[in-house]
Amino acid sequence: MSGQTNQKKSVKKLRVDKILSHMGYGTRSEIKKAVKNGYVSVNGKVIKDSGMQVDPYHDLIDIDGETVKYREFIYLMLHKPQGVISATEDTREETVIDLLDEEYALFEPFPVGRLDKDTEGLLLLTNDGQLSHNLLSPKKHVPKTYEAIVAGEMGAKEIDAFKQGVTLDDGYTTKPAVLEITSVESSEEGKTSHVLVTIHEGKFHQIKRMFETVDSKVLYLKRISMGALQLDPLLPIGSYRELTEEELRILTGSDTKE
Ligand code: URA
Repeated sequence: MSGQTNQKKSVKKLRVDKILSHMGYGTRSEIKKAVKNGYVSVNGKVIKDSGMQVDPYHDLIDIDGETVKYREFIYLMLHKPQGVISATEDTREETVIDLLDEEYALFEPFPVGRLDKDTEGLLLLTNDGQLSHNLLSPKKHVPKTYEAIVAGEMGAKEIDAFKQGVTLDDGYTTKPAVLEITSVESSEEGKTSHVLVTIHEGKFHQIKRMFETVDSKVLYLKRISMGALQLDPLLPIGSYRELTEEELRILTGSDTKE
């Protein structure tokens, strides 16, 4: 028995300079200066201490006449281009975080899962660790759909193999996946198949390794959905935007109740 616990959600207070620098109003020392010069007020009162603890969701913070709209998390849909890596930092390679404007990078987002350097398409960037965990947890079986161009002619045999599960080079047998064939094209170099593949797990290079088991090779790979989130067809390659409230709601599954 844990006894009586306080059921009221405790309000997390933060230093006002931390909030303001997090929201892009300057460095901590710039904020300190602004406070000293009387530019910052909390609930209508000019403050003196830049280390003052405030409730960012309920206290009204103004800086230079502008009311600060605080938020802790950001959720970005990136149309990842080829040639950048799904990491937060790297000494040699350009990362997906390098594609962001400072106002978003300030939130220290990270990619939810990885796409290979030569894979393009939907990549969610957030600083919400819980959402990331929920989307990546093997227990949640979140489906991911990829568009691919692969070598050779795919057909019923490959559809069935993916449905049954294929054994990868490390001995792992994949969970049932759906292979749909959109078209088969012929050229002087041979045949290629345009396909859609949906998997519910995310092993290293999974799609590429799955096609190797059916004697094919991935020539082009693009992720088009993750769970209920679809890549916005109007989002140009290399661009990103915040998720809409609706996208966030369906992604977190919070519209299932009410
Ligand atoms: N499977 C792959 O092989 N590569 C990716 O980038 C994503 C899934």
